[in-house]
Amino acid sequence: MRKPVMAGNWKMNKTVAESVDLVKKLSASLAGVSDRDIVVCPPFTSLAIVSEVLKGTSISLGAQNMNDHTDGAYTGEVAPGMLTDVGCQYVILGHSERRQYYGETDELVHKKLQLALDKKLIPIVCVGELLKEREEGRTFQVIEKQIKGGVSGLSPAQATGVIIAYEPVWAIGTGKTATPAQAQEVHFFIRGLMARIYGDAIANSVRILYGGSVKADNIDTLMAQPDIDGGLVGGASLDVNSFTRIVKFVKA
Ligand code: 13P
Repeated sequence: MRKPVMAGNWKMNKTVAESVDLVKKLSASLAGVSDRDIVVCPPFTSLAIVSEVLKGTSISLGAQNMNDHTDGAYTGEVAPGMLTDVGCQYVILGHSERRQYYGETDELVHKKLQLALDKKLIPIVCVGELLKEREEGRTFQVIEKQIKGGVSGLSPAQATGVIIAYEPVWAIGTGKTATPAQAQEVHFFIRGLMARIYGDAIANSVRILYGGSVKADNIDTLMAQPDIDGGLVGGASLDVNSFTRIVKFVKA
């Protein structure tokens, strides 16, 4: 059985004070939830303080990105070891906004993935097609390239620990969620790809999250799909009530 994961990607939102306020409220509203993994990914500036607030709670800490080197002259960047140092257990890699605005490639994502795994961070690797690619009937082709380029070449033990997030770019921040059937179709395809690369046992244990306008009112139907193992939530993770409801999705 795959344990569900609900991860909040705060993106470039929340001051330190706002971050502390939100995680204090979430710690209270999500106290005692243990049958699903809960992750918050605040901006870098809030990681250290949020880590302190989350001690002893059921919520884990993640970062939104990391550099592909361990240290050195990379002005403005943050190393994976710095993330574990402040208590991060997870890191989001290859988010479509990183790919679109900062030119991240599958090769770079793969390099970051290897390094994250070496540093014992649990990677959440994002894949997803643009609207144009979907309209041209190229969704599976795009996903296959991203998975093969980004997620292949790992040891079996490493591959089992990877979390994949399917985030169709046209559904991010648009309020236009993929239908449960559209999402399930791609999740099933990704699991099949992982089976071809790593075998059935690993493919069946890898968790695949859906992201793109996940809200309190659509999470239950998404989670009813057999290959959807959780959510990577943007806007709706910034509000205590909506993220709480998402984490507490009701099993169909
Ligand atoms: P929204 O939930 O705001 O659409 O963002 C999704 C996302 O990009 C999460 O990483």
